Amino acid sequence: MFNPGITVKEHDETRQGEALVLDSKSGKNNGRKLYIESYGCQMNFSDSEIVASIMMDMGFTTTGTYQEADVIFINTCSIRENAEQRVRNRLKDFAVAKLRKPDMMVGVLGCMAERLKAKFLEEEKLVDIVVGPDAYRDLPNLINSADEGNKAVNVLLSREETYADINPVRLTSNGISAFVSIMRGCDNMCSFCVVPFTRGRERSRDAHSIVQEVTELYNNGYKEVTLLGQNVDSYKWSSEDGTEKVNFAQLLERVALVSPDVRIRFSTSHPKDITDEVLYTMDKYDNICKYIHLPVQSGNSRILDLMNRTYDREWYMERVNAIRRILPDCAISTDIIAGFCSETEEEHQDTLSIMDFAIYDYAYMFMYSERPGTPAAKKLTDDIPENIKNRRLNEIISKQRDHSKVRLDQQVGKVQKVLIEGFSKKSDKDYCGRNDQNAMVIFPVSDNIKPGDYVNVFVDRCTTATLIGTVV
Ligand code: SAH
Ligand code: SF4
Ligand code: F3S
Repeated sequence: MFNPGITVKEHDETRQGEALVLDSKSGKNNGRKLYIESYGCQMNFSDSEIVASIMMDMGFTTTGTYQEADVIFINTCSIRENAEQRVRNRLKDFAVAKLRKPDMMVGVLGCMAERLKAKFLEEEKLVDIVVGPDAYRDLPNLINSADEGNKAVNVLLSREETYADINPVRLTSNGISAFVSIMRGCDNMCSFCVVPFTRGRERSRDAHSIVQEVTELYNNGYKEVTLLGQNVDSYKWSSEDGTEKVNFAQLLERVALVSPDVRIRFSTSHPKDITDEVLYTMDKYDNICKYIHLPVQSGNSRILDLMNRTYDREWYMERVNAIRRILPDCAISTDIIAGFCSETEEEHQDTLSIMDFAIYDYAYMFMYSERPGTPAAKKLTDDIPENIKNRRLNEIISKQRDHSKVRLDQQVGKVQKVLIEGFSKKSDKDYCGRNDQNAMVIFPVSDNIKPGDYVNVFVDRCTTATLIGTVV
């Protein structure tokens, strides 16, 4: 996922639309096939693995070909209008498949399901089931109901659900890296953002169940886990009797201690919440990757205030300075929104200048897209014309392209510890894998190394998006 390089896409959506393919769980097989496709953030991918697990418990097997599925699930994203449009277009493909196979069931899951609720059934006639992100345990009932010919909706949000006890299935993955959700929902109410409405209140998952899941992954040969939450720094869990309290820095430490052979990543850090304690914990453990995704959104304090980000330019810069001080080799990536409500040319320049200050390794960059029902949609006017938003975005992208190259160049001439993920996309004579800073490194295959191994690679050059070298 975090591919260094320049792309404008849905957040972390490099695996967008990819289908999960699973073998049947031993013993049970109801003869029906599930096809599941995910859009949006890593949390949606992680949820699809939970959904697949629930479906396999019902006896489903899965297929990578939707035309042959009995049930098609599409796990959706609402973050920007084009994310929703992509799902609508995909539903048209499924409608064609359903004409050929009329008893095929189509379910819409995730954030769009939550946002549109039963309206989805009116708007998209082919849809049989609408399920929000907190209602996946109800899938067996919803499918039974649809089997009986009744369309079914469950979009109840929960204050407690974390699916802590459900063991996700991970058969699409390379067997080397996995996602582990540590919390759900978000309480931040950034004014542009639909997530608090689609994912509900923030809740943290039992720390023991997280450590247990990571331990199981390690026992199954996994070498890298990414801890997921909308705002991992506000992770806060306490035992029922209140005697045990765990914050994010402490959770990181517990997970890092599972094994020095498992590398830890996490996403997303919120600039208002990331503490020095987290940075010192990262410093203390070699297996916590020195990489932080720290979305800035804008470099201007007035715009940040309108966005309700609850930090200003100076605060953000101070956090970057703290990272540079405590973790000198840490890579930083960000998210930026161009053309938010009432943004002036000078305010846009502040975004460009904060980029010059931080020199991000990587960035996800977007034009502001008004989302119905959000505080910004209610209280502010989406008044920056499309062509200006577009020009500002292009200026941001162009600057980031230069900065990504600067950061890659700095890594040339050094030895990098890389976890081999598999063959490079372009050639089976090369392996690829990421270094600590999350940059992709390409190097020749040789006999004594294999995917899942850590190797030291001397990097002698780079392209715009990858480091190239040889194993030493
Ligand atoms: N929880 C993360 C972000 C989740 S959404 C955080 O707080 O940083 C991922 C990114 O999508 C956001 O960081 C933001 O840059 C972008 N985004 C969210 N809503 C948007 C909107 N309405 N228009 C454009 N970009 C948006
Ligand atoms: Fe959205 Fe803000 Fe929550 Fe991130 S922190 S998910 S941007 S409301
Ligand atoms: Fe999209 Fe929902 Fe994630 S809106 S970005 S799938 S939390």
